[in-house]
Amino acid sequence: MVKVITYGTYDLLHYGHIKLLERAKGLGDYLIVGVTADDFDKNRGKINVQQSLMERIEAVRATGLADKIIVEEYEGQKIDDIRRYDVDIFTVGSDWVGKFDYLNEYCKVVYLPRTEGISSSEVRSKQCKLRMGFAA
Ligand code: CTP
Repeated sequence: MVKVITYGTYDLLHYGHIKLLERAKGLGDYLIVGVTADDFDKNRGKINVQQSLMERIEAVRATGLADKIIVEEYEGQKIDDIRRYDVDIFTVGSDWVGKFDYLNEYCKVVYLPRTEGISSSEVRSKQCKLRMGFAA
């Protein structure tokens, strides 16, 4: 069985996330999705996440694509997870190209093309404009 792992914040889940999860699942037989803990995001400077960890986990669960969902809580956890779950493939979107090459020591690393034209940041900024009443 080929085990695949991927990580993300998955704030305000959008079709870019779903396409990433579908393709990640297609790389193997069993998909583990790591969802970032609220503090983990804050510590890496991602301070405008709208949804709580539980809401983001529920959204990922609702896609039906994850065989297992875990929480990413600390720097360096990826290596521990790859070993713990005997992972064959680590994958993330192409916005991370090169950043996770160091994991090649532990499993295969695959960067999947990112879906153009959508991101959580964009959805957040549209929500903000709507709240302020000047949506374009
Ligand atoms: N992703 C993707 N295509 C997009 C947006 C995200 O393939 N348009 C992928 C990312 O490369 C990552 C996963 O989805 O592997 C989770 O990304 P995440 O950071 O949660 O989403 P973003 O929309 O990129 O969030 P932000 O704008 O806050 O950076």
